[in-house]
Amino acid sequence: MRISFASSTAIALGLAAQAAAIDPLVVKGSKWFNKNTGKQFYVKGVDYQPDIILTNAVRDPLADLAGCKRDLPFLKDLGVNAIRVYQTEPFGDHDGCMQLLADAGIYVMLDLSTPTETINRDSPLYDVNLLGYYQQKVDVFSKYDNVFGFLAGNEATNQVNNTDTSAFVKAALRDVKAHIKSKGLSIPVGYATNDDADIRWQLQTYFDCGKAEEQADFYGINLYEWCGAEATFESSGYVDVVKNFTNWDVPVLLTEYGCNLVTPRTFPEVAAIYGKNMTNIFSGGFVYEYVAEDNNYGLVTVSGTKATKTADYDYFKKALAAVNPSSVSMSSYTPSGKQHSCPSVGASNNWLASSTLPPTPSNTTCECMFKSLKCVSKTDTIPTNAGDLKTFGAKVAGIYDTVCSKTDCGVVTTDGTKGVYGKYSFCDDLQRVSWVMNAWYEEQRGINGSCDFNSFGTVVEASSSDDSKCSDQNNDSSSSSKSSDSKSGSGSSSSDASSKAALSVGAAVIVAAAMIF
Ligand SMILES: *[C@@H]1O[C@H](CO)[C@@H](O)[C@H](O)[C@H]1NC(C)=O
Ligand SMILES: *[C@@H]1O[C@H](CO)[C@@H](O)[C@H](O)[C@H]1NC(C)=O
Ligand SMILES: *[C@@H]1O[C@H](CO)[C@@H](O)[C@H](O)[C@H]1NC(C)=O
Ligand SMILES: *[C@@H]1O[C@H](CO)[C@@H](O)[C@H](O)[C@H]1NC(C)=O
Ligand SMILES: *[C@@H]1O[C@H](CO)[C@@H](O)[C@H](O)[C@H]1NC(C)=O
Ligand SMILES: *[C@@H]1O[C@H](CO)[C@@H](O)[C@H](O)[C@H]1NC(C)=O
Repeated sequence: MRISFASSTAIALGLAAQAAAIDPLVVKGSKWFNKNTGKQFYVKGVDYQPDIILTNAVRDPLADLAGCKRDLPFLKDLGVNAIRVYQTEPFGDHDGCMQLLADAGIYVMLDLSTPTETINRDSPLYDVNLLGYYQQKVDVFSKYDNVFGFLAGNEATNQVNNTDTSAFVKAALRDVKAHIKSKGLSIPVGYATNDDADIRWQLQTYFDCGKAEEQADFYGINLYEWCGAEATFESSGYVDVVKNFTNWDVPVLLTEYGCNLVTPRTFPEVAAIYGKNMTNIFSGGFVYEYVAEDNNYGLVTVSGTKATKTADYDYFKKALAAVNPSSVSMSSYTPSGKQHSCPSVGASNNWLASSTLPPTPSNTTCECMFKSLKCVSKTDTIPTNAGDLKTFGAKVAGIYDTVCSKTDCGVVTTDGTKGVYGKYSFCDDLQRVSWVMNAWYEEQRGINGSCDFNSFGTVVEASSSDDSKCSDQNNDSSSSSKSSDSKSGSGSSSSDASSKAALSVGAAVIVAAAMIF
């Protein structure tokens, strides 16, 4: 139950929770509804990411109460009912901002990834630390009734040569769904895609296909096709994008829109988004974006405690005020959408992500494996400053190159195209490189120097010599803050020596804190 922090009268009346409450939203079929009134909900949103740096480059506008107070009057004036926030953190105090938003009837869609905690499209890896981070974020934000969706990725795959990344993103989406379910909640988890004509259809079906527990609960498109007042529903290309979502089985919305090739932006597309051509299929969208950045899409500019309208502001406000989307009530709506089958994998289809997803990361498994090693990484931390991280990444890459060209490293590597994932491929960077060094050390029968790796490795007393049961212990779900085991099993060991080493060092690395030497 949420406690109203500002409403002392309500508290006095013993009505705190009710007085401050915002009705939760629910998904039925391809639409959102107000859970209490049954009224259909269209997202009339704006992407919201004032670039507030709290500490050490940590950004989280929902932990910046002064910023929320500065912006709330503008959000209300614009008439929006939702914001999408890209970068937040699981720590910090969000109560103030979330309450202000709830009081104004504004819902929040949250991205789970950040520029550092994410799946890197150039060497995709989904590990115990990333799942833990996503779970923490869900734990922190799911208590607010106005959070109506999480995004498990944003434009992760953005061209044909990184489509395999989508397998890892979809695995994270699956595990976040399981985590939410294990908490007895039903907040939907979706994906926000870029708009690349070569892979549009493949992406939208990939996130729709497969087992229900793997399927995206909603689908977002970042669409910038409609440029200027001369463009139309047809000429912009909107018509084709919309047509391809006919009879979709989950909600679809625009997670970003608003081309700025013609300025000021007058937002003619708003009439289409909330008009008859789209409301049957789309649930509205978020205009990009509230605060201007260098890319010049803002409705306001911000300086300290002051926000100033840009030329776009009144055009957007006026366009939004003019719409009146028709709606159905939850009880009279019978979903008729159909799930789609997965895109076929192959270069000829521009699609290289297997529908077999990576396994659910398990610390229990990784800690068990680590305890069986006799040769491990000397350090238990990964450097955070860029220079040291680069040196470190190069060292680790060198170890993989040396060892894995001679030894099968399949248990720590992945191949998202073949759908083959090593049973320890989700372990953190140091656990995986330790497994690699240990494999070499064992192959050399522990001869002197074979665990040295230029002083990177060190010999330790293994507390168990047998790791064969480690994967069976993949039941982290037993703890309430952990995700439930999705039965994806332990993955199979790849015998394909060409498997890509799932290295993320040098890109997005979250340091493992739980390694004991
Ligand atoms: C994909 O191609 C781009 C160049 O268009 C390149 O920068 C990128 O590294 C490639 N990614 C992968 C995973 O090969
Ligand atoms: C795994 O352990 C690390 C270190 O304690 C923690 O940060 C992370 O959240 C854990 N991951 C999961 C999925 O529990
Ligand atoms: C619509 O889907 C077809 C495949 O059914 C695809 O070839 C086409 O590119 C898609 N068009 C758009 C605009 O998404
Ligand atoms: C809806 O589609 C029709 C036919 O494609 C088009 O003529 C009309 O302008 C569209 N309406 C809006 C508001 O874009
Ligand atoms: C292994 O090498 C170290 C120095 O590199 C040396 O001190 C030690 O005596 C050697 N042990 C054996 C068994 O050769
Ligand atoms: C987790 O699995 C291991 C091995 O199968 C088992 O011994 C243990 O009891 C399980 N723990 C829980 C909490 O279910």
